[in-house]
Amino acid sequence: MLAGGSSAAADDPAAGRQIANMCRTCHGIDGYAQIPIAPHIGGEPKAYLEAQLMAFKTGAREHEMMSVVTAGLSAQQISDVAAWYASHEAVATLAEGVSESDAPQACVSCHGADGISLLLDAPNLAGETNIYIDTQLKAFRSGNRKHEIMSEIAAPLDDAEIRAVADWYANVTLEITPVE
Ligand code: HEC
Ligand code: HEC
Repeated sequence: MLAGGSSAAADDPAAGRQIANMCRTCHGIDGYAQIPIAPHIGGEPKAYLEAQLMAFKTGAREHEMMSVVTAGLSAQQISDVAAWYASHEAVATLAEGVSESDAPQACVSCHGADGISLLLDAPNLAGETNIYIDTQLKAFRSGNRKHEIMSEIAAPLDDAEIRAVADWYANVTLEITPVE
């Protein structure tokens, strides 16, 4: 059946770059976010970006800005713009004075100690603002955002625990560069 973002045509990152002009005031043209409530998306796995965009478009994930943005995009345009942002490299650097062993152990197997995801269907957390990470974890906890893994992980966390893991990943320095 029609699974989320299956697309017959090949991805076209150059076409995606044109579409990204609609995204740049919030996410930057390279995917380095310009406003604290928007996430960095450059260098994320294409599969993750496409799945989230389709979730906003279908209403499975809701947000006043992103629901409007994706309503106007076709599945092909979503695939292309996801390919554009995925065609970047995200490089993370831990803050001075901390080491990988200080990272939240409940998160590292999927999101990495430095917030660079180890799975194609999981996002990078490196350098996201603590506001963004906090908001998403609370959305998973309340059920406003649903995911079989993350809903369970967020359910038992209290606000202080959420802020602690959010601060860990927010303190990582992120650089996003185009891949030639
Ligand atoms: C007016 C600002 C704005 C514009 C324009 C915008 N976004 Fe967003 N975007 C946001 C915000 C805010 C969020 C966080 C939503 C939430 O809290 O759930 C977001 C979330 C996302 C996510 C989810 C990322 C994740 O890590 O889960 C993706 C992917 C995304 N945007 C891609 C795009 C693309 C592609 C465009 C252009 C076609 C675009 N956005 C245009 C503000 C914007
Ligand atoms: C077993 C793998 C796994 C573990 C462990 C895990 N996550 Fe996730 N996480 C995911 C996946 C997969 C997603 C994508 C969810 C979706 O598609 O909506 C995600 C999404 C997120 C998001 C949303 C980010 C965004 O850009 O929208 C945040 C925040 C997050 N995880 C934080 C954490 C934290 C903090 C921990 C540790 C307490 C953790 N995760 C542990 C797999 C995992």
